[in-house]
Amino acid sequence: MFAREGASVVVNGRRPEPIEATAKAITEAGGRALAVPGDVTVTKDIQRLIQTTVDTFGQLDILVNNAGIMVSRTSVRDCPEDDWRKTIDANLTSVFLCSKHALPELIKSRGNILNLSSIAGLMGTPNRAAYGASKAGVALLTRGMALDYAPHGVRVNALCPAFVETEINRDYLAELRRRGEYDTVVKRHPLGFLGQPDDVAYAAVYLASDEARWVTGVALPVDGGMGAGTT
Ligand SMILES: NC(=O)c1ccc[n+]([C@@H]2O[C@H](COP(=O)([O-])OP(=O)(O)OC[C@H]3O[C@@H](n4cnc5c(N)ncnc54)[C@H](OP(=O)(O)O)[C@@H]3O)[C@@H](O)[C@H]2O)c1
Repeated sequence: MFAREGASVVVNGRRPEPIEATAKAITEAGGRALAVPGDVTVTKDIQRLIQTTVDTFGQLDILVNNAGIMVSRTSVRDCPEDDWRKTIDANLTSVFLCSKHALPELIKSRGNILNLSSIAGLMGTPNRAAYGASKAGVALLTRGMALDYAPHGVRVNALCPAFVETEINRDYLAELRRRGEYDTVVKRHPLGFLGQPDDVAYAAVYLASDEARWVTGVALPVDGGMGAGTT
């Protein structure tokens, strides 16, 4: 969707195949894209990602901190320490590190940062101890960075989706279907259906665009109404 709006897109992930497929789909549709593999918890990979972006496209206007994992769906007592550390590293420290290394370029371009938090970062969710804490961290880091960098003309916002049907929850949703519990998850969304990637992408494109020039420090739920309250 960013490419359709005219952005040159640098696609990142650890596995080369999916990001190369995304970059290919963009270029075949007439857009500009480059796949740069790397791990967003590793400083030297992040520095290479940003340097390659600037070398290839001349500047960096938008950083989307999208990488995220959910390795543990448990309460604190049942969460292995290693899963806690991995989750905080991949979901929260990655946002700190990528933002830290991108900010010099974003200050030059008066660009913006968009972070993927979650509705689980805004409200308590059972059995999401590590994930919820990591995403709450992202939501508050967003607000703090918005204040720190507003004087530089850099906006920082976050999206807080509820259940979107993607890889991250494919196995979990399949398991719920097997157990006949899928509808209980759907019912937690007052609008009565789960989100699709485009539902989040529309909001992402808006927040990253010049049309949102007066919007910074928001953690916007895109959640089928889940965060509005109990029904
Ligand atoms: N789907 C939902 O219901 C939902 C709801 C709320 C929030 N979110 C958030 O939205 C974001 C996108 O999730 P998604 O639903 O699109 O999940 P996804 O399909 O599993 O995508 C996650 C992406 O992150 C990449 N990634 C993970 N760790 C990485 C690392 N250390 N370095 C670089 N890339 C890494 C993965 O690629 P590799 O494995 O190749 O590295 C993958 O492309 C995440 O932050 C997620 O927490 C999702």
